[in-house]
Amino acid sequence: MSGQPPARLAVFVSGTGRSLMNLVDWAPDLPASVELVVANRPCLGEALARERGINTRVIPGDLTETELLELKTEHAIDVIVLAGYLRRVAVPLSLAGRIVNIHPALLPKFGGPGMYGWRVHSAVLKEAHEQGLAESGCTVHLCDAHYDTGPILLQRTCPVLSSDTPESLAARVFEQELIAYPQALRALIESLRQSSP
Ligand code: GRF
Repeated sequence: MSGQPPARLAVFVSGTGRSLMNLVDWAPDLPASVELVVANRPCLGEALARERGINTRVIPGDLTETELLELKTEHAIDVIVLAGYLRRVAVPLSLAGRIVNIHPALLPKFGGPGMYGWRVHSAVLKEAHEQGLAESGCTVHLCDAHYDTGPILLQRTCPVLSSDTPESLAARVFEQELIAYPQALRALIESLRQSSP
């Protein structure tokens, strides 16, 4: 490795925290450590983080740029990782290229406001039944001012089966998410280090 200290991650959650726990469990292999977990409501993800001794904050509503910058400074955060976080996130200039999201479909399709959870997989299955769509997958992307539209960092695909339910497809996509998020974060952290060593 580069000999540099681990990148300091803030992970934002709203739900069960599966993606968060994936990163925490992968942390020994990632050049990164989860230093802060932010939830917009009390949830399992935030409780699991507390159990692990990670700094945790519950902040309802949409975070303003000022609040985000305060968190960044207070915890010396390098990268903000959205992991099932259901609120909009502002992107202050100093965090541009440093806020990442994972979406459970192949963007630019099946994204946008309201497209999360089962709605995404149901929309994919509808297109599979009506138009023969054969693949789904996940997308890791940088965040911009809108939902699910920032530059794509990495996509991984999986088949859509004719027997799929939203649940079975979600589970197959999530297997790809488990690989994609650590892989994309590793690449992002390395590229940030090269651009500002
Ligand atoms: C994942 O499916 C991810 O694509 C989406 O939120 C889900 C993870 O949420 N952004 P959680 O970790 O189960 O709360």
